Amino acid sequence: MRGAAPLSRLPEDLLAWFDAHARELPWRGARGEARDPYRVWLSEIMLQQTTVPHAAPYFEAFVRRWPTVEALAAAPDEAVMSAWAGLGYYARARNLLKCAREVAARGAWPDTEDGLRALPGIGPYTAGAIAAIAFGRQAAAVDGNVDRVFARLLALTGDWAEAKKVIAREVRALVPESRPGDFAEALMDLGATVCTPVSLACGRCPLARYCAARKEGTPERYPIKPPKTVKPVRHGQAFVMMRNGKVWLVRRPPQGLLGGMLALPGTEWREAGAGEFAPPVEADWASPGEVRHVFTHFSLRLTVWRAEVRAAPPGEGRWAGADEAKGLPTVFAKALKSAVSGW
Ligand code: ADE
Repeated sequence: MRGAAPLSRLPEDLLAWFDAHARELPWRGARGEARDPYRVWLSEIMLQQTTVPHAAPYFEAFVRRWPTVEALAAAPDEAVMSAWAGLGYYARARNLLKCAREVAARGAWPDTEDGLRALPGIGPYTAGAIAAIAFGRQAAAVDGNVDRVFARLLALTGDWAEAKKVIAREVRALVPESRPGDFAEALMDLGATVCTPVSLACGRCPLARYCAARKEGTPERYPIKPPKTVKPVRHGQAFVMMRNGKVWLVRRPPQGLLGGMLALPGTEWREAGAGEFAPPVEADWASPGEVRHVFTHFSLRLTVWRAEVRAAPPGEGRWAGADEAKGLPTVFAKALKSAVSGW
């Protein structure tokens, strides 16, 4: 017994709220306008693991430089990887290009959830979001925000994996035939601005009357998730070699973590600790200290070393100025910043 209003009128109330409170975001355009699947797709990929304020300038830079999926498909890999630098999850940028090239080769986007799901880098959430937002399909887009909103609406206790299945079913059943895309984005906006992880704003929630958690009095208690596991710590060294105001950069192998991205040369990152290591060339090395960075599966403590060098070290790489160094992933950008003032 939920003790709150039945959910059947929820879509109507949610959409009325969205009409009044939708956020203006660069990928949305004017209300009621047909949405370009390229822009919807690009924004959804960028937003998978980062926030709207962080992703928005990247989105605008991408569509300015590559206004269509054909333009992106024709871009050199390195240009796209550099433009993605700072968004993290670089495998996603590689899949982005693969997907753009596949769509450009086909000549059109698939317009169903299943068709979209078959493209590189598009999982169930993204397929549902694009199908609903760009193609008006009656599809659901259930991400972490929607999970939180529905865990509260339904006051779900018990196993979180099971709870998520219940939520996916409930959301799918509620997607309206008309305006499925607005329904998806309304839930996203509600999760971002009202039904937030902390400091929830139940007083202005359009769904308050449906909310079993609110009725109980402690909505912030939900979602009830298993405790997060502590990430292992890895250690490594990064070498900042400077010559004539430029830094020596290498490119990471195409596969694996930060695959295909520009990088500072360095040691492998290991849990065992620093151990023995030798810098790439003999020089007067000094360390500005350690930078820390959190990846999905581990935390990194990277000791940074800096030296002026007289010649390039052995192996492939290139001298890069401050501008090109903007293509570095965040972990190396942090390391470089710690070693070179003004970069
Ligand atoms: N998060 C993921 N997709 C979004 C969208 N289309 N609008 C707002 N926030 C989002």
